[in-house]
Amino acid sequence: MTYKIAIIVGSLREGSLNRRVARSICALRNDNLDCSMIEIGDLPLYNQDLDADPPEQWVRFRQQIAAADGVLFCSPEYNRGIPGVLKNAIDVGSRPYGQSVFDKKPAAIVTASPGSIGGFGANHQIRQAGVFLNMPMMQQPEAYLGHVTDDSFDETGCLKEGPLKGLIATLAHAFHDWVDMIHRSRQLLAEDSAHAALQAKEHA
Ligand SMILES: Cc1cc2nc3c(=O)[nH]c(=O)nc-3n(C[C@H](O)[C@H](O)[C@H](O)COP(=O)(O)O)c2cc1C
Repeated sequence: MTYKIAIIVGSLREGSLNRRVARSICALRNDNLDCSMIEIGDLPLYNQDLDADPPEQWVRFRQQIAAADGVLFCSPEYNRGIPGVLKNAIDVGSRPYGQSVFDKKPAAIVTASPGSIGGFGANHQIRQAGVFLNMPMMQQPEAYLGHVTDDSFDETGCLKEGPLKGLIATLAHAFHDWVDMIHRSRQLLAEDSAHAALQAKEHA
């Protein structure tokens, strides 16, 4: 089963390490994951006053997330937390209240940094938002990618062969299985309740 994955990168810069990690996941050509990078740099800052007549960029972003089977966050850490641009995208997708496009979407998080703790702080702040957003978050493998530099990538902008690429490949497979488990479970539960409803009608 192939699943549509929306990748949200928490860095806007051209040479972003995290964008290249995200690109590497797309380039694995895992035919079970159909990955699209969702741009967030053009999203106007969230302002509840605009909910009645939302900017077109918000509408486009919400539609892109709604159409996905799962969400992969790939982000740097800024000052031990979530970069503002990513937090804004999370806030935009989460509203209007009760209409969050993140609700029930299986998700996973990768954080990459040249530093040694691999964006641990940002990773867990995204995880914290995911709890409130009701996103079933993949627990393992955790991906705090430390010591990532330009040298980690080849001329095509993808991770060179090595342990980092190995971890990313493991994560991509685990994420597929996570999304698959959640979607199949929901389908089975829906079938069970349809069957139970039918039986109740027959015995009425
Ligand atoms: C405003 C700002 C704050 C940063 N804070 C952290 C931090 O808390 N932890 C960390 O590991 N790196 C931090 N860095 C360094 C980033 O990890 C580094 O610039 C990284 O390349 C950014 O990700 P990107 O390459 O995907 O844009 C910070 C960088 C900036 C610009």
